Amino acid sequence: MLLGVNIDHVATLRNARGENEPSVLQAAKICVDLGVNGITAHLREDRRHIKDDDVYSLKNDLKCRLNLEMAATDEMQKIALSLLPHACCIVPEKRMEVTTEGGLDVFSQQKRMCDFVKPLVDAGIFVSLFIDPEEKQVEASFKTGAQFIELHTGSYSRAFATSLEEAEFIKLKKSALFAQHLGLQVNAGHGLNYLNVSRMHEIPDIHELNIGHSIISRAVFTGLEKAVCEMMNLVYKN
Ligand code: PXP
Repeated sequence: MLLGVNIDHVATLRNARGENEPSVLQAAKICVDLGVNGITAHLREDRRHIKDDDVYSLKNDLKCRLNLEMAATDEMQKIALSLLPHACCIVPEKRMEVTTEGGLDVFSQQKRMCDFVKPLVDAGIFVSLFIDPEEKQVEASFKTGAQFIELHTGSYSRAFATSLEEAEFIKLKKSALFAQHLGLQVNAGHGLNYLNVSRMHEIPDIHELNIGHSIISRAVFTGLEKAVCEMMNLVYKN
């Protein structure tokens, strides 16, 4: 299982003062030098954390796979086609949300998503659709021509260590197995932390986990290197 570190919240902290510290590029470089498999950055429509310059410097100044998270808008498609990141993860975006709440409804916008995904795949970008763990969303994602899905682990993460955990975990596992049966590669992320991440090993062949908030939060107390190494130990343990 690979680990992609989501670097957005380094930018959140930087933007709190509108200056250049802490540096997103420097934080990403520390993660890459420690051996993480990729850096994920979400360029939101409102640019609340990651900015355009960040994604260009992550792409151009770092020797690492960049996973650009973005909404399915014309503006973002244009940026992706000019940036040519290793991968794009398409997420739903609502202006007032604190973070990405829920997955993309691919099922209800099948044609639009097919049209959106094709130019990206044709440009050599690996495309992933961030969806809730539901069979109809997995099947619809497969039909778009995207090579990956990223399963939204938010509900599982919130349910962790409660009576609801098992039901949420089973949804993830069943969706992953169904996706793999169709030939999709499966990533997962959102809300994963140092406690709940271990169960991801119970799902066969998850390709990559994308984890941000828990790593950056721990880094406040331990430093980024220690926080990343501790997560790498949990993700790479098999
Ligand atoms: N994957 C996707 C598609 C996301 O939108 C996010 C949050 O930006 C993450 C992973 C990382 O979530 P977290 O910051 O909760 O680890």
